Formats: sequence, structure tokens, C-alpha cells
Amino acid sequence: MTENLAEKAGAGRSSKLQGWRYFDRDFAAREWDAVWTKSWLVICREDQIPEPGDFLVEEVGAESILVVRQEDGGIKAFYNVCQHRGNKLVAVAEGSMPSFTCAYHSWKWSLEGECIGAQDPEDFAAGSPCGRKRLAEINSEIFASFVWVNMDANPMPLNEYLGELYEPLARYPFELMHATQAISVRMPCNWKIISDNFRETYHIPTAHPEGLYVNEPYYVTAIIETLKNGHARLVTPGSQPSRYLPDGKLEIDDYLIQDLKTWELDPEDFQDKPLAIREAIIAQKRKLGEGRGHGHYNRMEDAQLTDTFLYSIFPNLTLTCFSDGMLFLRALPHPTDPEKCTFDTWFYATGSEDFFTKMLTSAGGVSETSREPVEREWRNFGEGSLGITLDGDAGIMEAQQRGMHSRGWNGAELAGQEKRITHYHDRIDQLIADNEMSIAAE
Ligand code: FES
Ligand SMILES: [Fe+2]
Repeated sequence: MTENLAEKAGAGRSSKLQGWRYFDRDFAAREWDAVWTKSWLVICREDQIPEPGDFLVEEVGAESILVVRQEDGGIKAFYNVCQHRGNKLVAVAEGSMPSFTCAYHSWKWSLEGECIGAQDPEDFAAGSPCGRKRLAEINSEIFASFVWVNMDANPMPLNEYLGELYEPLARYPFELMHATQAISVRMPCNWKIISDNFRETYHIPTAHPEGLYVNEPYYVTAIIETLKNGHARLVTPGSQPSRYLPDGKLEIDDYLIQDLKTWELDPEDFQDKPLAIREAIIAQKRKLGEGRGHGHYNRMEDAQLTDTFLYSIFPNLTLTCFSDGMLFLRALPHPTDPEKCTFDTWFYATGSEDFFTKMLTSAGGVSETSREPVEREWRNFGEGSLGITLDGDAGIMEAQQRGMHSRGWNGAELAGQEKRITHYHDRIDQLIADNEMSIAAE
């Protein structure tokens, strides 16, 4: 434990986190070149485009990216730009088409990205564009039910990029999950404000006291890992009350009582030993889970059955994973303004009733009626609720962005337990340095 504490305490570094990182336009441009166009990014869920011809468009900063289900069942990703004069090829967010026709001069593109139609094809000195011109393809892979893309021409394979996260992510039943909330918020903050927020639990006792009844965020008992390629992982024990509850009283409240009853345990048996609940629930999930339709428990570790595993996937994605669901929290940069971004707050669940009970009471973002798949909904910051937990975060993000400009703030002083933030910004700086050195060497 001493070693663990010492390592955590020594990890914080404050000098990097100054306000300009969150609003400087030159820095944002350098990030775009070194980070966004060279990282694997999740675009959508694979099941959003199930049939040949199904397509989806996502705006990532200045780029519009088109992903298309192919006739052979595969998926291709393209820059959503017509190769004639650069018009945006597909103007809608999603749909299904046998081919894509540009709205400017009607060049027509197959699902595979080949030009298959052009007006007056004989009028081009290089010959007909048909069969000669192709949409600009982007590297893509499918993993964990997501479509990932990388704008770099020669990226490392996704499994190598994800490194230590690849195998544990493969254990979650993402393919069984459907969206129960899919709200995208236009946020008045830099995208890193969002990523930073999900890279520390230091704020949880203050900003999210509602979660303390079912999860222990204390850094000494948490597993906090900084991983290669800028990723990180946090594991906090679930199905137990937190030491941060008022007066340090480990109260078994209604949420935990419900959890116990769901798994056929008697809350009375745990009144004097609330910290025994977690192990008891793990044992019951092992015993009863498969028979209740949770066959995926067999491929998960014990801790994955009760604990919160928060995966920070560089550069912009947080997957907070539970045994039967996840929060998909993604920040996407604004095309031109580093002080704006898109914040996707999408909740997924396998649909089991006990999980919904937990989500309702802890994360708070799933309404009792949202047990059916939902469509993406766009909102401006401050419109409607994202659930009690994310409402707390979103309000802070807006306020913190303003603080980045203050003459009275000279940069962060980080606690050791906030080391994932330092690690994250170090990775960004490293990528910028590498990119600019390689350009200088050319
Ligand atoms: S720009 Fe698309 S056909 Fe001309
Ligand atoms: Fe938070």
C-alpha cells in the first residue's frame, strides 16, 4: 500500500495545464494535425448501419466522415467530399442509398467509393471520371461493436493502438447493448475539458454525492492506471457505500437494498457489514446470472460484475463500463472554435431490469420509460437534463472554460490521483512534438 500511495502521490505535475491549452487557436490547429488526424476514433456503432447501403455521417472537427455498409457486409469510411469540386457529398446524417449522387453536378459514387456516373464524361482531358476517380477512403476497423476510423494513411492496427485495453474491452457484451439515451450537446468548452473531467475521481465526493451510495471513488482503493498511447483506466469498487458519505457512515440505502434484493440477498444480513455486499453480489451473479440471461458474465472477471471500469481511450472517448451497460462519453472538436465542442452522452444497456434499477439510481440518466432503443437527440448546452451526474459535470465544464481565461489563474496544481490528466496532456504534447519534428525532417 505504501508503494501504491507513494506512486500516486508523486505523479501529479502542474506546469503543463495552463489556460491557453483550452482556447489557443494555434495550439488547436497543432492538435488537429498531430492528434485528431492520427488517432483511432469511434464514429458510430456497427449496428447503426446494418444493411448494405446504410450510411452514417459524423462531423469530426473540420472533417465530415461518411461510413457505409458494403454489399459484402464490410464497412468502408470515406471523407465526405465529392472529388469533382469538393462539395459535401452526403448532406444528411444517416440513411440508406444504393449509391451517392452529388448535389452540385451529379457525379455518382458507388458504395465502394468508385465514380460510376458523371455528366458529359467525354469533356474531361484525362478521360471519363467514371472508373477512374474514387472517394478518398479512410482506414477503418470494427471492434467492440463500434466503427473506428483513423485518418492517418498508415496507422498502427487498432489492437496495437488500444494495447492493454483491447482484451478487457472485448469481454464486455457491447453487442447485446442498445442505446437508452443518445443526447449530443453543443458545449461551450474545449474538448479536453471534457476528457480531463473523466480522468479523475477527485471531484466525485463534491460534484456527484449521489453516487457515493453505490460506489467507492477513494483513490487509495481505486485502481488508477496510465497506459501506453495516452489511454488510462480507473476501477472503483461498486455495490458498496463510500467512505465519503456524510460523517463517514457506510449507510446501506435504498439503492444497495434494491441491488441485494435483485440478487436474492437479505439486506438484514448486511446491516453490520456493508463492505461484504460487493463480494456477496459477485457470488450471486456467478450463481444466478446465466439462468437470468446474463450469459456474458461467464466471460467477465469478478470485478467486472460489480465495479465501475472507466476506460479513457485517447484522445476523446470515455467508456464507463458496468456488467450490463455502459456510458459512452465522447468529445468532438468544433470545426473552427477551440472553445466549443460536441459532447455525446450516450447510455447503453443490455436491457436487464436489475441494471436499469442501478442506472436509474446512480448515474441517473435513464428514465424509467427509456427501455427501448432511442434516436440521437441534439441539444444546446443548458437545454434539458442529462441525468443528475452529467448535469453536474456539464455545468462545471462551462464554468471551468471561463476560468481558463482568468488573469487570476496560473495553471492547475494536480493531486497525485489526477495523474491520468497529466499523462493525457503529456501524450498530446508528445504527438505534437513528434509530428512537427517529422515535418521539419522532410
Ligand atoms: S462537386 Fe460534386 S459533382 Fe461537382
Ligand atoms: Fe463527473
